[in-house]
Amino acid sequence: MNSAVKAFYEKPWKERTEIIAKECSLNAGEKKLLESMHPLDFETADRMAENVIGTFALPLGIATNFRINGKDCFVPMAVEESSVVAAASKGAKIARMLGGFEAECSKQIMIGQIQLKDADQKKVKEVIEKHKSALLEKANSCDRVLCGHGGGAREIEVRSAEKFTVLHLLVDVKDAMGANAVNTMCEALAPEIEKLCNCSVGLKILSNFAVHRIAKARAKFSVKELGEETVRGIIEAGEFASADPYRAVTNNKGIMNGVDALTIATGNDFRAMEAGVHAFASKSGKYLPLAKYSKDSEGNLLGEIEMPVQLGIVGGSTKVNPTAKLCLKILGVKSAAELGEVTASVGLAQNFAALRALASEGIQQGHMKLHAENIAVQAGAKGKEIKIVAEKMISLGTIRQEEAERVLGEIRE
Ligand code: MEV
Repeated sequence: MNSAVKAFYEKPWKERTEIIAKECSLNAGEKKLLESMHPLDFETADRMAENVIGTFALPLGIATNFRINGKDCFVPMAVEESSVVAAASKGAKIARMLGGFEAECSKQIMIGQIQLKDADQKKVKEVIEKHKSALLEKANSCDRVLCGHGGGAREIEVRSAEKFTVLHLLVDVKDAMGANAVNTMCEALAPEIEKLCNCSVGLKILSNFAVHRIAKARAKFSVKELGEETVRGIIEAGEFASADPYRAVTNNKGIMNGVDALTIATGNDFRAMEAGVHAFASKSGKYLPLAKYSKDSEGNLLGEIEMPVQLGIVGGSTKVNPTAKLCLKILGVKSAAELGEVTASVGLAQNFAALRALASEGIQQGHMKLHAENIAVQAGAKGKEIKIVAEKMISLGTIRQEEAERVLGEIRE
């Protein structure tokens, strides 16, 4: 597969879906689902949430040019903000010139927390050490399917959180997001823990601070393409984000533009991802950027990103939402770890593209074109008129609906 489709954005809708259907081997039903613009029926929606009265649509775009660990992929992105898909594609295009992204993902270990009240921590440590194997076995008896796939509870740690003693149950959730498996195991262990530790148990719930489920990506961006000044500007932008949390938050918001769009497209829990990522960004006590930049000996820009992921490719809404299933097929990932690798690569591409624009022409220029086109559509422009009206407004420096209506009237005459 070759994800570097030339001028994908300029192709008519039907041609775009043809390309994706062919490259990603979509069957007739999957292609029809895309083309129906009707991604979820009422019955499915009504099973996913309560009091359903409708469904809420987002544009589904495809980021092109991604090459990750030597393999091309098309990245589905569900997002309402203009420029995000274009920026990810641009970032991936420049990374691709020097080989694309190298990415890796740790084991898929999630943490389940069991809060102990009025516990003697020293005694809890002794008891847990003594009964660990039996407790892990009990946890694993809750999910034979997960164990059958090579996953399951692996370790129990004892922590202290101010006046509370907390047990961390570490579970390899394999290809699931893991919340259900982990919560079930924690609840099953609670009565046993109360008896053994002679204390009362409070909350039993997954932690979204997924510090043991980490994805990393690296890429080299050509100095020939960027110019030395832009390379310097991007490195300085990274330093600014490291120095100032006000900037770091916006920097990471830009990363999450891509990460959330992919998380949503694959039917995953973007609130979990957001909570985990921002906690990870501040784990040193200072809120820091997730990506870092430096230069190699030839002056090329090196970018690297590290972030927690909590994404599944089985279970949850990835299974029931037909569009999420379709997006996973388009992406072609075979494991949650692979999805983590793509996610980190998308985050890096997104951050690089934003910093490149900010360190050179600024982001408004790119935004302006899309904004002007949206205003042209609102003014009633159709087909080729949209581009003409938008370009005219940009050249006149006034992007407003009245102006779009005036220009449209003029060209129609
Ligand atoms: C806008 O959605 C995202 C940016 O603000 C990110 C950044 O400043 O790095 C452009």
